Amino acid sequence: MTSQLYQDNFPHLAPAWSRIFNFVADRAEGAYIYTEDGKKLLDFTSGIGVTNTGHCHPKVVEAIREQAGQFLHAQINIAIHKPMLQLIEELRKITPAPIDSFFFANSGAEALENAVKIAKVATGRQTVIVFNGSFHGRTHTTMALTTSKTIYRSGFAPLPAGIYVTPFPYAFNLGMSEEEASAYALNQLEYLLASQTAPKETAAILIETVLGEGGYIAPPKSFMKGLREICDKHGILLILDEVQSGFGRTGKWFAFEHYDILPDIMTVAKGIASGLPLSGVFTRTEIMKKLDVGSIGGTYGGNAIACAAGVATIRAMREEKMLENATEKGIQLMTGLRKLQEEYPQIGDVRGKGLMVGTEFIVDGKQAKAKQLVKDVIHSAEEKGMLLLSCGTYDNTLRWIPPLNVTTEQINDGLQIFGEALKEVAK
Ligand SMILES: Cc1ncc(COP(=O)(O)O)c(C=O)c1O
Repeated sequence: MTSQLYQDNFPHLAPAWSRIFNFVADRAEGAYIYTEDGKKLLDFTSGIGVTNTGHCHPKVVEAIREQAGQFLHAQINIAIHKPMLQLIEELRKITPAPIDSFFFANSGAEALENAVKIAKVATGRQTVIVFNGSFHGRTHTTMALTTSKTIYRSGFAPLPAGIYVTPFPYAFNLGMSEEEASAYALNQLEYLLASQTAPKETAAILIETVLGEGGYIAPPKSFMKGLREICDKHGILLILDEVQSGFGRTGKWFAFEHYDILPDIMTVAKGIASGLPLSGVFTRTEIMKKLDVGSIGGTYGGNAIACAAGVATIRAMREEKMLENATEKGIQLMTGLRKLQEEYPQIGDVRGKGLMVGTEFIVDGKQAKAKQLVKDVIHSAEEKGMLLLSCGTYDNTLRWIPPLNVTTEQINDGLQIFGEALKEVAK
């Protein structure tokens, strides 16, 4: 349900859009959004992990301006354009060598739709395994792949069939150590393959390398290695969804680099173009070649301006050492959050990699009971000048997604505002 304030102020905006804040943004720069009524807000949401280079990075804005003067749209069936070729060149420098075939679309959901289509055709198999708490989008297939909250699917049945769900190694929720959670989840996966979807009909295992919407949870290394082994054993394709965790967010270009494994297919979006709509499915040519020409595609996929923004984004991240900064500032942020955790027992867990950090709240031993508290923290922080988002099935985890070029002072400011918000609503 949408807030009354939102409906009263913006009666013609679709009320089904979930809203957290009610300000109108005037402009944005770096880590800040400036509102129409004159407020300066420290943005630790980055448009849900999109503006990784900060708002309106000058090099990205310049690339967009320059490309707009050349042409806006050169549909890929008709004309190959230079920004796409340059983007592929940049992507080849940051993706592992076996990944050598690049397909572009517009949104994360569209990338996932295509990844599933590719996996089915490439293997000749029908089903896909996903994990509890996953979020892969809001189209029909991606709704069926998504289990982070019932709101994303309720009322929309029937959803496409052939999708099976198995537990994610969510140690805090399971009340287990990371290694116990890893062993448990791998066991459950083996059980699913023995009881519901036979390996010979399983096209792909699909996982967010770091669970995003489901609670900002990085799985243990043993689990990701186990997944790779199971896929190899059965000829199942491993699809890694890097839509939220990619493009430097975790301190590496892609989160799977933390795990010493390679995907067969990877999906990207969000951070790839600093805010322009662009997504991608990257895989090996031997896999992509199995598809009939014309069976995947779209009018806008790989739009020239979005590709130009993508090229500038990757170059700016490299030139300005944003990945290194993400690792460093991630440690600063987690250290500060862990100090606050000592003071506030409601913070049950502080976790993350790089600048993909979550603080999970718990009240009376229950995650669901912490939902209101997290909402109150978010609104108190907004009043004090900082934007934060929640995630998790019970919306009881705060996710910290600052731009990758965030400064030490900005992290300190964020921690201070968070501390004040906690004092106000959690004491
Ligand atoms: C991991 C992941 N996959 C897919 C999506 C869907 O992306 P989009 O909203 O661009 O369709 C999201 C969006 O939050 C996501 O976080």
